[in-house]
Amino acid sequence: MVSKSQNPRKVAVDILNNVLYKKKSLKYLFTEKLLSNFKDIDKAFLTEIIYGVLRNLYYIDWLLEIFFKDKEKLSPFTINNLRIAIYQLIFMRVPDYAAVNEAVNIEKIFGGKPTVVNGILRNFLRKYSKGSAPECQNLSIKYSHPQWLIDRWIKRFGVEETKNILKANNEKPPFTIAVKPQERGAVIDYLTKKGFLAKATSYSPAAVTIEGQIQNILKTLHESPFFWIVQDEASQLVCFLLEPKEGISVLDLCASPGGKTILTAVLMERGKILSIEKDKGRFKTLKDNILRVKKFLPKVEIEAHLIDLFKLNIKESFDGIILDAPCSSTGVIRRNPDVRYRVTEEEIFRLSNIQMKMLEKASKFLKRDGILIYSVCSTEPEEGEFLIDKFLQKHKEFISINSVYPFFESFYLKKGILRSFPHKHGTDGFFMVRLSLR
Ligand SMILES: C[S@@+](CC[C@H](N)C(=O)[O-])C[C@H]1O[C@@H](n2cnc3c(N)ncnc32)[C@H](O)[C@@H]1O
Repeated sequence: MVSKSQNPRKVAVDILNNVLYKKKSLKYLFTEKLLSNFKDIDKAFLTEIIYGVLRNLYYIDWLLEIFFKDKEKLSPFTINNLRIAIYQLIFMRVPDYAAVNEAVNIEKIFGGKPTVVNGILRNFLRKYSKGSAPECQNLSIKYSHPQWLIDRWIKRFGVEETKNILKANNEKPPFTIAVKPQERGAVIDYLTKKGFLAKATSYSPAAVTIEGQIQNILKTLHESPFFWIVQDEASQLVCFLLEPKEGISVLDLCASPGGKTILTAVLMERGKILSIEKDKGRFKTLKDNILRVKKFLPKVEIEAHLIDLFKLNIKESFDGIILDAPCSSTGVIRRNPDVRYRVTEEEIFRLSNIQMKMLEKASKFLKRDGILIYSVCSTEPEEGEFLIDKFLQKHKEFISINSVYPFFESFYLKKGILRSFPHKHGTDGFFMVRLSLR
């Protein structure tokens, strides 16, 4: 259990061990709940060192490599402690002596190798005094992304665009919420009066970006009289692509944490949504999130079911279906910098097979004049355009069709098939398609 007096560097080492060695997901370890145990100044510092190390891991390791004598003898704790110290020395304004002394102290707390850590960091500082660490031209090291993923992107987009993707993936993403489109102006006024920089975005009519300390923003939003949820603009666009009309029925087949269920409910104002989720823990999150906003949606009936979509056995068909399938998450690397170290090419192929089976199953529940939206937060074609081509080849009864909304203009790859990118649109990277029966 963390207490307010806990050392942020020590917690950062712990989190990095879990993410980089045990392959746990950063977003489930580094939560608002964990942060709430720290003083404001430590919250910002902890966030910066964790995200900073993960965004620059290969570069930091490249710099460190020449200072190791017996790297194999160092524990993951020591290596992550060193990475955190190097990040502070190169990228932050932490005084050299403080970064080194703190790293040595942490090493003592872990019962690690304080003398080795002290030696490596002092040698590092002798070679590279402030600001003199060399640049690396190798893209994988410079932007800290796996080579196989960079090779894929270069083949598809060329070197220059790939560099832009890599840069955008290492930038801090905006904090974005979805509100009722008719209340967007009022929400922005409210937040502005409370001292935040709040802006309407370019594409989703429901999106507001807010600058400021996240916990202060959340506190202000909780006290506000408005409907809001935290949701990236691209994720919001998936709901607009459905064009939910008043009174329709919607099936959301991969629903938790509920962003798309909830914004769809807001947009349709009146109707019925059946939300499916197979994971027990995530189902609870879905239920909690729906419960929080229920008062803002008095005319939409949302029913949530804990069930594997492959076992869904109902006779009903729906006006709208959303299949926001589990994916490699390569479109959300800027929000989850650890994704790049977990994802593999095999995983992309494995997911693609599951996604196709999910889409086949989803398509069975569509009404004659209904719309089926398939989406993933992946940049990879096996989970997007290749999969849809295959589906449309096999299912001649389906076609992809454009939305009536003009704000989708810059996202189309083909009729009804869309992609968003952080480096182009400033949104998360999503693939989405609008399918209807012929
Ligand atoms: C990309 S997330 C969905 C995000 C959600 N649509 C939102 O906007 O908040 C995919 C979800 O699908 C769930 N899932 C994966 N396989 C499933 C299955 N076979 N049946 C139902 N849900 C599944 C996962 O547990 C995960 O919560």
